[in-house]
Amino acid sequence: MSIVGFWQVFFSRVMHYDEFMGNKIDLIRVGDIGTNCWLYPLEPNPASSGKQPCVVIDPGDESSLIISRLRELHWLPRYVFLTHGHYDHVAALPDLAETFREESGGAFPQIGIHRLDAHYLGKDSLEIHRSSMSAAGGSAAYVDALWKALPPADILFEEGDQAGPFKVMHVPGHTQGSVSFYDEKAGVLFSGDTLFMGSWGRTDLPGGNERQLYQSLSRLLSMNGEIVVCPGHGPATCIKDEQRLIRHYL
Ligand SMILES: [Fe+2]
Repeated sequence: MSIVGFWQVFFSRVMHYDEFMGNKIDLIRVGDIGTNCWLYPLEPNPASSGKQPCVVIDPGDESSLIISRLRELHWLPRYVFLTHGHYDHVAALPDLAETFREESGGAFPQIGIHRLDAHYLGKDSLEIHRSSMSAAGGSAAYVDALWKALPPADILFEEGDQAGPFKVMHVPGHTQGSVSFYDEKAGVLFSGDTLFMGSWGRTDLPGGNERQLYQSLSRLLSMNGEIVVCPGHGPATCIKDEQRLIRHYL
């Protein structure tokens, strides 16, 4: 069964794919609006203490669920890569970083985000999360109640960077520093909140830009149709199934 078929039949909060374009991959849906936190394995290396090193993409909430799943799998997060800085994609980062840095003597995980979204991390980031939450129709008090200081980025991405197995694609519009992560070898794209199944990300929050979003969307949808798309919310899909968005809307 393809990943898309698997998604449609079994829709639980934790999913594991033993054969996903030749890779294992894990997905945890977290938080009130169901953010996709993806766990993606890396080639083993001597620094991984015998555990399977992996990338965590968008740890948006429920740190205890993410940490317990990593422990269950015996996977070690070498990197946390963020498709963008919105709170529903980063809120579990403080616990994740603290837990695994303590265990690795401070070495891992390294945190990566695009340079233009770096202000969503670090000690001065509370205000941008409060204002984004208000702009989204939520309450800044919600952020205040949950707030834990977000660690700063270790890696600032630029267009075309190689980040672990991924080529970084800068796709502004949802935020100025939105990126997608493309593993060409595996044929997998982590599209963040730029491209969803049948839709795309909103542009009405601080840093959003509709014209840029459409340009970014067109760029992603011009990629090879067989590429599997793992979005920031909702089911996985593939490029060719979303190219109708161009025909119908763009
Ligand atoms: Fe977002």
